Amino acid sequence: MTFEQWMRSVLERVEIALDNYLPAPDTAPAQLHEAMRYAMLGGGKRVRPLLCHAAGELSGARTEGLDAACAALEMIHVYSLVHDDMPCMDDDALRRGKPTVHVQYDEPTALLVGDALQSQAFIALTAEVLTPVQQAALVRELALASGSVGMAGGQAIDLASVGHKLTREQLETMHRMKTGALLRAAVRMGALAGAAPDAAQMQALDVYAAAVGLAFQVVDDILDVTTDSATLGKTAGKDAKDGKPTYVSLMGLDASRALAEQLRAEAHAALLPFGERARRLAELADLVVNRVS
Ligand code: IPE
Ligand code: IPE
Ligand code: MG
Ligand code: MG
Ligand code: MG
Repeated sequence: MTFEQWMRSVLERVEIALDNYLPAPDTAPAQLHEAMRYAMLGGGKRVRPLLCHAAGELSGARTEGLDAACAALEMIHVYSLVHDDMPCMDDDALRRGKPTVHVQYDEPTALLVGDALQSQAFIALTAEVLTPVQQAALVRELALASGSVGMAGGQAIDLASVGHKLTREQLETMHRMKTGALLRAAVRMGALAGAAPDAAQMQALDVYAAAVGLAFQVVDDILDVTTDSATLGKTAGKDAKDGKPTYVSLMGLDASRALAEQLRAEAHAALLPFGERARRLAELADLVVNRVS
């Protein structure tokens, strides 16, 4: 199977899983459930589910268990996007090529869509296709990655940093928390949904995931400067306009590109012990760094 064929088959599964793990659209209150589906379905690169599947294949996880983990990861991710776009945060009107949830509906709905998706993610992780031990491990991974020492904490640093010049170390910490943590969790959760990998393997996967997670936000910072809104499906040029500290504002485009390339190499190096079995993860590291949107 080529990488493209593999991606297409995973993405098809993910769309079905998301539909299954979301409440039906006619569930009351219908407007909230419709708005959750508006935010979740039909758009997005689904990078976290792809990473989760690739890591799961490596550890021999059952596909049905991976579907639940992928749905949970994407729900947390989309909740973070819906809140990130609200006027009290980045105040963005465009996401995934569509009006953001607070524009399409209203601000209270956007707030509640995020809240409800967060809860729904943890409901997905208690699916019976996962053993009780796996459920607990996955709940813990996802909660740590999305909470105050992960995504939410990183977002707090991001908002507090507007107009400030961060050191490279501070910027790296912010990026590892707001974006890296969930991508890292995607890899770890894929592995934990299978036969629990030994400590050395988990460590190698973790090094890979940390590199890919940071690279992802470095590239996001680059694309904000180099790419137009139509290609991105979100408003370009927003970071500079809002005075956000980014890799591009700190070190410029060329050095940011060189860093992304260095992180890609780090990710590949970490996968060496797995050989051919880690092919999809290696290809995904390339995708994260070479993507155009
Ligand atoms: C955008 O994430 C927000 C960041 C964490 C940088 P993605 O680039 O994965 O957004 P979608 O899911 O493809 O829309
Ligand atoms: C978003 O970072 C990180 C999270 C949503 C957690 P950005 O604010 O850079 O994401 P975009 O550029 O709006 O997608
Ligand atoms: Mg933001
Ligand atoms: Mg934003
Ligand atoms: Mg951005």
